[in-house]
Amino acid sequence: MPFDLPYLPYSKDELEPHLSTRTLEFHHGKHHQAYVTNLNNLIKDTPFADKTLEAIIQETANDESNTAIFNNAAQVWNHTFFWNSMKPAGGGQPPEAVEKTLTSAFGSVDGFKEQFKKAGVGQFGSGWVWLVEDAGELKIIKTANAMTPLAMGMKALLTCDVWEHAYYLDYQNRRPDFIQVFLDNLVNWEFVAANLS
Ligand SMILES: [Fe+2]
Repeated sequence: MPFDLPYLPYSKDELEPHLSTRTLEFHHGKHHQAYVTNLNNLIKDTPFADKTLEAIIQETANDESNTAIFNNAAQVWNHTFFWNSMKPAGGGQPPEAVEKTLTSAFGSVDGFKEQFKKAGVGQFGSGWVWLVEDAGELKIIKTANAMTPLAMGMKALLTCDVWEHAYYLDYQNRRPDFIQVFLDNLVNWEFVAANLS
């Protein structure tokens, strides 16, 4: 079965004024859709055609002959995870369980935000910043291009897309501002809580 573009978990105008309808139209409707279309074309009539997205990502991750399949499959997965990492009127104080976990790993919620922002700003070129669980330990990592914790034996808990296409229409070159708004006004803490449990 070919893959479908997943629906957004909110309408395209609901993240206003922090992310514009126009950004969502391009980012979900054009960029995410293109990864889905490319993946379907690449796996057609191959042994990957019957596999789950997760299996395709894990099986192509370190295989140079399948780089294009990996890149598109991982980008499909990463973007779906990113849409779920945000919600309308997000941000604010995390639920108690998340607050405790972040405080024990990073000193405080603000300490977590500071390190997450620093990692996202520090990703040279296109990529992603993640909160992950790695062998029971919470970590902040950045990945280049399509690379995903799913291919690194880690469990993703939260992500922010730091490719320019994620923020350029609204924030131009101001990636630090975008990540700050993501953390203060968009982050879906309930999604983090669900991933933690
Ligand atoms: Fe993106």
